Amino acid sequence: MLQKEGYHVAAVYHAGDESARMLHEQSGIRIFKWNVADFDACKRGVAAVESELGPVDILVNNAGITRDTPLHRMTSEQWTDVLATNLGSLFNMCRPVIEGMRARKFGRIVNIGSVNGQRGQYGQTNYAASKAGVIGFTKALALESARFGITVNCVAPGYCHTDMVAAVRDDVMASILATIPVGRLGEPEDVARIVAFLAQDSAGFITGATFSANGGQYMA
Ligand code: CAA
Repeated sequence: MLQKEGYHVAAVYHAGDESARMLHEQSGIRIFKWNVADFDACKRGVAAVESELGPVDILVNNAGITRDTPLHRMTSEQWTDVLATNLGSLFNMCRPVIEGMRARKFGRIVNIGSVNGQRGQYGQTNYAASKAGVIGFTKALALESARFGITVNCVAPGYCHTDMVAAVRDDVMASILATIPVGRLGEPEDVARIVAFLAQDSAGFITGATFSANGGQYMA
């Protein structure tokens, strides 16, 4: 959606070479491969993006994984992987771009949270903690960045048609669907539309906010 609106877009992925190749072929979007849970990889990656496309003015932190299991069965690795990817990535990606944004007096950072970071979810102590952390991170960085023309906001999607949601057990998914007032899953476009709105130059008065797109499942 950002590309359709005329931005020069770079996308980062870690796993899924085939999907990445197809996205590039279909859209022409520049694709980069690194792990956003790795700070040094992010530093190097951002430098590579900037040398090809110029300074990063808009950053969308949307990398996320699940390792769903109740806490009494959760391994340390399942905890650490989710926190490192979903929350650690915000530090790892914002840190290399924030100084440039401050110097240029402009920036748009949009962090993807989750309804489950707002309300909790059985089997997701790791994921809910990471996504609640995204909201706190967003507010703190919004405060630090406001006087530099940089906005920092969070979009908190509910259950949408994605591979991540498709992986949820059928019986669990049926019970979740019953709690969504609009009676259906969301679409990725429902989320992208908010991101594109927040990325606009004219959205400069909106910062530190969390926008829900969850079909009424949770009204924060
Ligand atoms: N609330 C209350 N009780 C629940 C429950 C819930 N949501 N889910 C399970 N239970 C109960 C079961 O009914 C069962 O009770 P009995 O023992 O009385 O039969 C008991 O807890 C079973 O507990 P277990 O600890 O053995 O759990 P389980 O193996 O049945 O299920 C799980 C564990 C597979 C992790 C499952 O809870 C689950 O899939 N949770 C996560 C689902 C989910 O929403 N994931 C989101 C992925 S998508 C995403 O995250 C994107 C986004 O941002 C929205």
